[in-house]
Parts: sequence; C-alpha cells; structure tokens
Amino acid sequence: MVVSAQSRGVIALIIVSFSVAVLLLYSKVHPSSPVTIVTINSVNHIFVGASTTSSSTPPPISTMTSTTPPTFTLSNNITIPSIGLGSASGVAYPHILHAIEVGYRFIDTAQSSRWGYRESDVGLAVHEAKLRYEDWIVTSSSSSSSNGEGGSKERDYVFVQTKIHPEDLGYHSTKQALQLSLERLHVTTLDSVLIHKPHCWEGICAHEPEGTWHDAWEVLQEAMDDGIVRAIGMCDVDERLLGQMLSKRIGPMVIQNWFDPFHQDKAFRQTLDDYNRQNPPNKQILYQGYSTLGSQWFHHKGYTQNPVLHSPILQNIASKYGAMVPQVVIQWATRQGVMVLPASTNPSHQESNLDSYFFTLSEEEMQIINDMDGNLPQPENASQKDKHPDEVAMEFVNHVDGVVDVYWVPPTNEGDGGIDDETSHVHVGKMNGMGDVLRLTSYHGHAFVFKDGGSAVNEIVESSTGRKMLNMHVVDKLLGSEQQHEIDDRSDEEL
Ligand SMILES: NC(=O)c1ccc[n+]([C@@H]2O[C@H](COP(=O)([O-])OP(=O)(O)OC[C@H]3O[C@@H](n4cnc5c(N)ncnc54)[C@H](OP(=O)(O)O)[C@@H]3O)[C@@H](O)[C@H]2O)c1
Repeated sequence: MVVSAQSRGVIALIIVSFSVAVLLLYSKVHPSSPVTIVTINSVNHIFVGASTTSSSTPPPISTMTSTTPPTFTLSNNITIPSIGLGSASGVAYPHILHAIEVGYRFIDTAQSSRWGYRESDVGLAVHEAKLRYEDWIVTSSSSSSSNGEGGSKERDYVFVQTKIHPEDLGYHSTKQALQLSLERLHVTTLDSVLIHKPHCWEGICAHEPEGTWHDAWEVLQEAMDDGIVRAIGMCDVDERLLGQMLSKRIGPMVIQNWFDPFHQDKAFRQTLDDYNRQNPPNKQILYQGYSTLGSQWFHHKGYTQNPVLHSPILQNIASKYGAMVPQVVIQWATRQGVMVLPASTNPSHQESNLDSYFFTLSEEEMQIINDMDGNLPQPENASQKDKHPDEVAMEFVNHVDGVVDVYWVPPTNEGDGGIDDETSHVHVGKMNGMGDVLRLTSYHGHAFVFKDGGSAVNEIVESSTGRKMLNMHVVDKLLGSEQQHEIDDRSDEEL
C-alpha cells in the first residue's frame, strides 16, 4: 500500500493521539496505576510507567511498574510485542482474525499441520486484516532492514513467524519449504523463520530428511542475504547447540524453547543472558517461550489436568489481583525478558491474555513463581486411597561435589535407550551440592538422567569438555513404593 509522506504524518499523529487517549482512559479504569507516558522513537514504542519521569529510555523490565507489556527489539532493530499469538492446536482463520482485531501484532505459526498449525489460515487472516484496517500503517523505527535498505521503513505491521519442519532439513528441501511458506502467507518477505526441531526422531517425521539443520541454516543465511527472511532461529536449543549456532556466519536471532513455571529452562536462559550481556544490540538473541500456559504437561507428559492452569500457588496470586492464572504467568514471564505465545481459540481468553499488565506482581511473587521450577505437583487425584499401582515416591540424593540437574526422559525416547534426544528431556529439579535431596512422585519405568552443572551432557561424554557423566536411573516398582537413588560421578570410570 502506498501512502504519501503527508498522510503518514497525519496517520502517525492520529495513532499517537488515539494511544494517549486510550492510555489515559485506561488509567481511569485502573486508578491504582498512576500514568506516566514515555514515547520512544515512534508510535509503536509507548511505555506507561508508574514511577518514571519523562525520559528517553524505559525503566528496566524487571522492576518496571507498567500497564502495558514490554516490547522486545530484535537484533535487526525490529521491535515486536512481548505477547504474541501461538497458533498450534487448531487456532484457525477466525481466531487469528479476532486476535489481530483485538491487538495482537505477532503470530507464531509453522508448516506442520500434524502439530495443529494452519499456516495458510494465518496468511489469509493477516492478508484480510490488512485490507480491513488501515490503522496498521505505523512508522517503524527500523533504520535498516536485513536486506540492506536504509532509511525509515513503512509497512503493514503484523509480525509473522513460521517454522521449517525437521523432515525438511537439507539444502534443497529447506529452499522448497521456504517457498511454500511465502506462498501460504501471501508475502514476499518472511519476518522470522525458525527451524522447528534440530533433527527428526521416531514418530515426528514422515520421511528421512535430506540433510541436517546445518544445511537448512545455510539456506536461511542465504535468504537473509537476499532479503527474503528478516530473522532466523531455532526451537529446542540447548547450550551445546547454541554454541554450534553461534559459530555460523549469521547467528540465531530467536530461540524458542519450552518454558512454563514448572519448566523454566533456567540454565539455558542464564547462558543466553550472559551471551546477550557480552554482545552488542545487533548480536542479541531473543528467548521465546512456548507452551507457557502449561500445555506440554497435558498434551505430552501424561497429566490429565494442566498443572499450570490449576496450580494453587498461581491461583492464590491471581485471586489477590482479581486476575486469571494465565495473566499472572504471562506477566511473570514477560517481565523477565521471555516473549510468550499463548495460543487460544477463545476470544475472551485472547483478550485477557493480552491484558496481563493491569496489576503488578510484587518481587516476592515473582520469586515465588521462580521457585516453582522443577517442583512438579503430584498428579491430580493422587491421594493415598487411589494411588496409581505403578507410583513410586523417589528420593534422589546428590553424591557429587557440585550442582546436579535432574531430567526426566519422556517415554517417546525410552525405547531408544532414553538418551539420544536430549532436547526432549524434561528438567525436573536441581541439587546445589553434595547431600542435597530431590523428592518427586514417579512411576514404574520412568527414566531419569543426571547432568553435571546444567551442561547438556550425553551418556557418552568427551572428557576434554570437563563435563562429567553421571549415572542414569530407571524406576522399578518391584524395589518398593518408596525408593532412594544415589547420584554418582562416573567420570573417572572407563566408558
Ligand atoms: N516450537 C515448538 O516446538 C512449539 C511447541 C509447542 C508450542 N509452540 C508454539 O507455542 C504456542 C503456545 O503453546 P501451546 O499451544 O502448546 O500451549 P499454551 O499456550 O501453553 O496453552 C494453550 C491452551 O491454553 C488455553 N488457554 C489460553 N488462554 C487461556 C486463558 N486465558 N484461560 C484459560 N485457558 C487458556 C487454550 O485453550 P482455549 O483455546 O480454550 O483458550 C489452549 O488449550 C503454540 O500455539 C505454538 O505457536 C511451539
């Protein structure tokens, strides 16, 4: 759409005026949050802070008292919202259109229809919304784009991120897959493309991939050079994979990992934070959390009730503010720099998820949620009376002189020995030193691996890395309904 400079100025002015009016109205609805408006660079960077005076920079995210979610700026200088719409599991055209209407400006999709994504629906809805709503035309602060264009740039702005299925890893396959996404999304440039999984494993790929993620990355780098893709990244990344990605000509700009209150991916996020602290803005990597509302437990980990949405801890915090659990989780996540992608087919859920900043979690509440990491609740209805016959109360005791992370190996991997696909290991707890004990409810046949200091450790470990191999454990109910397992350092043993 072509818009003259004069019209653009008028539109920008209208949007600023409208935003200010909305924000002032908002302060009336939520009078406990005094409003200071700080306008930064352009109309899509408006922060509302309770305690700031007028300034050109927002207060730090962790302490910010705000009635709007923070925004994140990618290393290509494009600013995106911290709350996007996830679109797996049946989120379809009308849901996406509604989400855009109520203010979502980031949509996460993928090529895989088997995982419930409808990439074409996203394309149609975004295209339709562009035709309907002219107020999307905003002036981006982006002074240069990935294709080397300089100057400020105008575009109809709903950021769409898609993903290449692992069965399409390989130079030619990934090229074809990219073309397919361009067609389905009705665009000539893709905002962000992620590799959905770094490799195939049993049950997720319809056929052997042509090549590896390295070949696919080559294609993504070339697409960045050609201006066809603006940002690239990968899902399910651990420290080792991150290291490999950082050695590429163009490093990752987005990492998308499973993140929820019981699965906070802390060790990896710390590594990423350290990296970001040591690198300039054009090298920053954004951490996106998927399944932040707890769906992984329900869909893939055997819980019949979502432990996040039903957590009494989160329910207590939410009720204090007249909020809902998803709002608490979304604010908690985004305030510490995690971008979230809550999926919903329900219009009121979509709206309330976006409205997760009408209250402010205290630092103590933030810490309470931080401490939920790894503390998996008992499966529901797990009273003594109707205990599952395979249930075992496990006690892991740290006999290693240092930090040990405990990971559950989900059943899909157990048939393969349970150790070849580290990306699907579930972090269930951490022991900080010798003698520490981790207690959890487990079941016959559950396998656990123990990793030294949070490093991504496979059973076979090169001693040159300095990482230790720790013994793994498979729960056997014949040994009793209450068991203890000692975690030993086997790095000195012959492999
Ligand atoms: N990279 C990957 O491998 C990967 C893996 C999984 C997910 N993802 C991405 O991350 C997105 C989010 O993850 P997810 O879909 O697994 O699950 P999620 O966002 O954790 O949870 C979605 C579920 O929560 C419900 N929900 C949403 N808002 C709610 C609210 N306010 N109150 C009550 N229930 C609410 C939804 O039901 P309603 O529809 O009824 O609201 C839906 O069942 C995905 O859609 C996808 O885009 C990526």
